[in-house]
Amino acid sequence: MTQASPLDLSIQSLTATGSSIDLLASSSSDLSQANTMALACLADTVVTLTDEAQLDNFMTAYAEGTAHKIPLFVLSGGSNVLLPAELNAIVLQPKMRGIDIIDQTDDYVDIEVMAGENWHDLVVHTVNQGWYGLENLALIPGLTGAAPVQNIGAYGVQLEDCLQYVRAYHLPTQTWHHLSASDCAFGYRDSIFKRTPNTWLISRVGFRLHTDPNNILASYGDVQTIAQRYADQQGRKLPTPHDVMQAIIDIRQQKLPDPKQLPNCGSFFQNPIIAQEQFMALQAIYPTIVGYPMPDAMTKVAAGWLIEQAGLKGGGVAPIVTHQQQALVLTNHTPYQATQEDVAIAQHYIANTVYEKFAIQLSREPVWINADGSTGSTEHVV
Ligand code: EPU
Repeated sequence: MTQASPLDLSIQSLTATGSSIDLLASSSSDLSQANTMALACLADTVVTLTDEAQLDNFMTAYAEGTAHKIPLFVLSGGSNVLLPAELNAIVLQPKMRGIDIIDQTDDYVDIEVMAGENWHDLVVHTVNQGWYGLENLALIPGLTGAAPVQNIGAYGVQLEDCLQYVRAYHLPTQTWHHLSASDCAFGYRDSIFKRTPNTWLISRVGFRLHTDPNNILASYGDVQTIAQRYADQQGRKLPTPHDVMQAIIDIRQQKLPDPKQLPNCGSFFQNPIIAQEQFMALQAIYPTIVGYPMPDAMTKVAAGWLIEQAGLKGGGVAPIVTHQQQALVLTNHTPYQATQEDVAIAQHYIANTVYEKFAIQLSREPVWINADGSTGSTEHVV
């Protein structure tokens, strides 16, 4: 047997005492403030990573040491997870920072962003630099490294529209990989990272952003009108990407709660996709139902509309209730006390009520984390 390295000992002793592992940086093992839903959660061990070499070092020690039987769990900004009250795992938190220009022409700029950069700050920074493409994704909570996991999307833009590649560490084989956008296999709120949880740790994301201030996407809802108002105020004929970003910030601030003030994890339910035939039958009964045509004779239905029409705007099971301005968002009214179980109870109540009225099954969007760090308990799938 080889002699235990100091790193190995620290993993053993720290996991034994249940405190944070102070590998090269440390953080608290109480994760109730590290998830935007503010669910009570105590983890075995938390490892904060501020550069890639730390991950290599940690994984070497982990693989050689006795701690390797403890599962690993990657936690980014905590904005799309439902954490358990006790998380018996070693939590890896990628917090590497940095934004680098890789290439620049008159038409575009390629940047590489480290996983720990705050997403919204990145959006504002790029738009202020005159690098465009991310403006429609303003004010989405979380860190850049988590953005590819669910291919974040809003106001007609999805992350995959600007993403060029992801650099990620494959935990099972302890190897670094360069994944192209097609390797990431993006779908609606989906990617290879989401489909194979706890397998990849994303460290960098590469984007190609454009420099044409006339190239904007403002067709969604009120975006055009509000962006035009900003343009008028500045004496510009047409809205710029900066105006679009301002409009989207306004819209989101108006209808989506700020997790710092009212904990939530964004859209709680996905917009369900049903057969066009079923949609038309529902439309005959409920003429105001909101749906968007999809390929293959399917229709995407606005889950927020379904929940509101089921009488659940502001409803749920306390302390977890839907938001007054946007029924698709579940909010936690007892931060740091409510647990995952409270969320499951409210989720079932809402989904069952909607099903009874419309015969449409709602699926949860945030990821359910089990006590061992594995994901997606079938018991709790709606
Ligand atoms: N609606 C209602 N009642 C509600 C909420 C919505 O009737 O309480 C209706 C609206 O009137 C509208 C339709 O439903 O006609 C769609 O609503 P909205 O435009 O607000 O968009 P969404 O489908 O609810 C999706 C994303 C959001 C994203 C917006 C804007 C999903 C699951 N959610 O919401 O993403 O910001 O579009 O693009 O696709 C997030 O993931 O955190 C998130 C907020």
